[in-house]
Amino acid sequence: MVHSLPIPLLLLLQFLALIPTVYSNNIISRAAQRTHKVAARHTHAIARDLRVAFGAVLVSEPPQQLLANGRTVYCKSNAVGSSGTGQGNSNSSSGTGTPTKSASAGSPTASAVSPWKLAEAHNGSEFFQGWSFDVGADPTHGVVDYLDQSQATSAGLAYVNSAGNAIMAVDTTNNLSGNRESVRITTNSQYNQALWILNAIHMPTGCGVWPAFWTNGPNWPAGGEIDIVEGVNDYTNNQATIHTNPGCSMPTSNTTALGVTGELVAQTNCAAAETGNQGCGMRSNSNVSFGAAFNNNGGGVYASKLDDTGVSIHFWPSAQVPSDILAGTPQPSSWGAPFAAWPASTCDPSTFFYNQSAIFDTTLCGDWAGSAWNSTGVPGQEQSCAQRTGYSTCESFVMAEGSAFSQACMFNWEVKSVNIYQYKP
Ligand SMILES: *[C@@H]1O[C@H](CO)[C@@H](O)[C@H](O)[C@H]1NC(C)=O
Ligand SMILES: *[C@@H]1O[C@H](CO)[C@@H](O)[C@H](O)[C@H]1NC(C)=O
Ligand SMILES: *[C@@H]1O[C@H](CO)[C@@H](O)[C@H](O)[C@H]1NC(C)=O
Ligand SMILES: *[C@@H]1O[C@H](CO)[C@@H](O)[C@H](O)[C@H]1NC(C)=O
Ligand SMILES: *[C@@H]1O[C@H](CO)[C@@H](O)[C@H](O)[C@H]1NC(C)=O
Ligand SMILES: *[C@@H]1O[C@H](CO)[C@@H](O)[C@H](O)[C@H]1NC(C)=O
Ligand SMILES: *[C@@H]1O[C@H](CO)[C@@H](O)[C@H](O)[C@H]1NC(C)=O
Repeated sequence: MVHSLPIPLLLLLQFLALIPTVYSNNIISRAAQRTHKVAARHTHAIARDLRVAFGAVLVSEPPQQLLANGRTVYCKSNAVGSSGTGQGNSNSSSGTGTPTKSASAGSPTASAVSPWKLAEAHNGSEFFQGWSFDVGADPTHGVVDYLDQSQATSAGLAYVNSAGNAIMAVDTTNNLSGNRESVRITTNSQYNQALWILNAIHMPTGCGVWPAFWTNGPNWPAGGEIDIVEGVNDYTNNQATIHTNPGCSMPTSNTTALGVTGELVAQTNCAAAETGNQGCGMRSNSNVSFGAAFNNNGGGVYASKLDDTGVSIHFWPSAQVPSDILAGTPQPSSWGAPFAAWPASTCDPSTFFYNQSAIFDTTLCGDWAGSAWNSTGVPGQEQSCAQRTGYSTCESFVMAEGSAFSQACMFNWEVKSVNIYQYKP
């Protein structure tokens, strides 16, 4: 049906669908940039019309990088004109590419009393209070050096922006011989059970990058690791994983029986030592849950719950966040199926997870982004990063092309809040 629309109308509809109504100007401008690039490719007339209609927010520079090796690399846009990896759908009922069934924005549960009570909030000008900056080399062998707080602050790599959002960035000096400076922060607090809710509007994305938001216990893997947001390079679908001591597994690989909307990416054994550190990962079925697709869609909310029933993780695109979450009274029982879950029946939470701290990090290359440099086939990675950039290794690309990261494909986290709740019915 959509194919019968005249192209300009189709573009306009797609453009309108992309305009987030509640986001800050920089997000609107990113959506406008991307749409302008595509619109201009198809017809000058529609581009002119859009410029008139959206004057101030339409930026004429397309999101592309002119690399030092002479190549032009376009940011992945994952929406208009891309190869069909779902679309940002900020306010429409068609549901294209936003398969989260449980999104019940405006649900009546918002005013109900939640059994989950806020234990700590990280937001606004005080976002960085209660975190420690991890310093030094990346244990996953990325080509970054993590800075302490005063270094990161003076380098402009950790700050709260004028919108009140926390920025965690990577150094973009153009051509480096050593590692790039980056940021990795860990909460001082630790919980045996909790509900961690991340509200982010941008995450690092693009060839070479490997960002993560996760929780981790002491004496790895004994204290357990829950990777809530993780992926590499151009991926558009988030991958959540747990890594544990031997003895924790998933009861089945049948996702229907598990009651999750995501899919298994590897095996059902979660033991780090028995799986070459792979753990048991689940990929979200949402094409806007990670990377450029997440950013272009205005970001979203992740909720990771660790309690007597096990571990489960939900994701909502920003326009579909349940009202109970926005109200600060989360009601997990009203959220429907998570995209990932590891039930207590085959992985006792009190045995395999304790003293969990939350962590943000951004690394470059290393064990995952580097080793996947030549790979394709994961959603978002139709073309390998080697092909896209013209560099045969991840390290040579990120060392030589820092300015590529300072533009539209930013290696930045932009986080509205991290709220941690405890079960206190
Ligand atoms: C995007 O998501 C839809 C399901 O919502 C799926 O059918 C499609 O294959 C996905 N596209 C890619 C490239 O992963
Ligand atoms: C979304 O669309 C509905 C129905 O068209 C409208 O009432 C509502 O105000 C819109 N929401 C936003 C956030 O624009
Ligand atoms: C941070 O979050 C807390 C708890 O939701 C809220 O009371 C406070 O107003 C927020 N602060 C800012 C600056 O948004
Ligand atoms: C997966 O589980 C569902 C629900 O228990 C069941 O109906 C279905 O047959 C199972 N699929 C396979 C391939 O076993
Ligand atoms: C876990 O946290 C508790 C309470 O702070 C502490 O007493 C205990 O030593 C911690 N366990 C480990 C293994 O760090
Ligand atoms: C990718 O391919 C290039 C050229 O064939 C090779 O030099 C490089 O080692 C490969 N990298 C990985 C991670 O396989
Ligand atoms: C980066 O700098 C090195 C010398 O430090 C030089 O050999 C190389 O050509 C430069 N690369 C680019 C892409 O500018």
